[in-house]
Amino acid sequence: MPDSVLVERTDYGALITVNRPEALNALDRATLQQLGEAIRAQSADPEVRVLALTGAGERAFIAGADIAEMAPLSRAEMGEILTLGQGAAQALEDAPQPTIAMVNGYALGGGCELALACDLIIAGPRARFGQPEVTLGLVPGFGGTVRLPRRVGWGRARELILTGRQVDAEEALRVGLCERLARDDLRAETEALARRLAGMDSEALRLVKVALGGRDGEEILARERRLFLEAFERPERRAAMKRFLRR
Ligand code: CAA
Repeated sequence: MPDSVLVERTDYGALITVNRPEALNALDRATLQQLGEAIRAQSADPEVRVLALTGAGERAFIAGADIAEMAPLSRAEMGEILTLGQGAAQALEDAPQPTIAMVNGYALGGGCELALACDLIIAGPRARFGQPEVTLGLVPGFGGTVRLPRRVGWGRARELILTGRQVDAEEALRVGLCERLARDDLRAETEALARRLAGMDSEALRLVKVALGGRDGEEILARERRLFLEAFERPERRAAMKRFLRR
């Protein structure tokens, strides 16, 4: 089995790639565990001046938590997945160096939430963002209720989370769900930005990140977790996941 998380050292720092393209890089427990460890290890290394995150293949950044794995879980087991997912997102947000999500395709559910935990989101032309949890009988679980409103404002975040609809790259740029749209070469544009940041004063960047904050959503994260687990126990949630898996 190939590693489900790849770490590549680059001239600007490190690129972490979620590598389950056959499942559109959906996050199962093992992948989430590896991802959190990779983020923590790379962000703790002072030689990593910029940390980038992407998904393997042409189609997806990360299509969310792994629905097939999640469907039969107990509440306690699901709670462990939420701890891993919220933890990975928090590790991105706490990283001292700038973090960039290079969104090459679907960034849905937990995938959108990990992108939102990065400082900058660069979308390629095939990027599609969304919080489809409501269509599975759920609420976002990896921090979307905190970080989506921060990026796009309350009204737009409510609309996206309540409808679960997907947003293409152009709309994402328009509404502030990504900061840049790379129309030609996503990797080259990401690298150019990463190199620019890597050439800057890393301590000043770290202080700027502290000044901008990030840890002020802990109460909302705890509420999100509680409500996710409440929703997770409903028979409607089980039925919705079965419908997805039987398509
Ligand atoms: N979990 C598990 N498997 C997934 C997946 C997911 N989130 N997303 C895609 N896959 C799998 C599909 O089951 C399929 O596998 P098989 O080939 O074995 O059937 C493979 O990836 C390719 O996907 P599709 O055939 O579905 O591709 P498509 O082009 O028809 O559709 C898609 C693409 C719209 C992204 C669709 O796959 C989809 O809706 N995926 C689910 C997205 C989603 O709901 N994500 C949120 C999950 S819940 C969550 O993340 C909760 C949280 O906040 C923590």
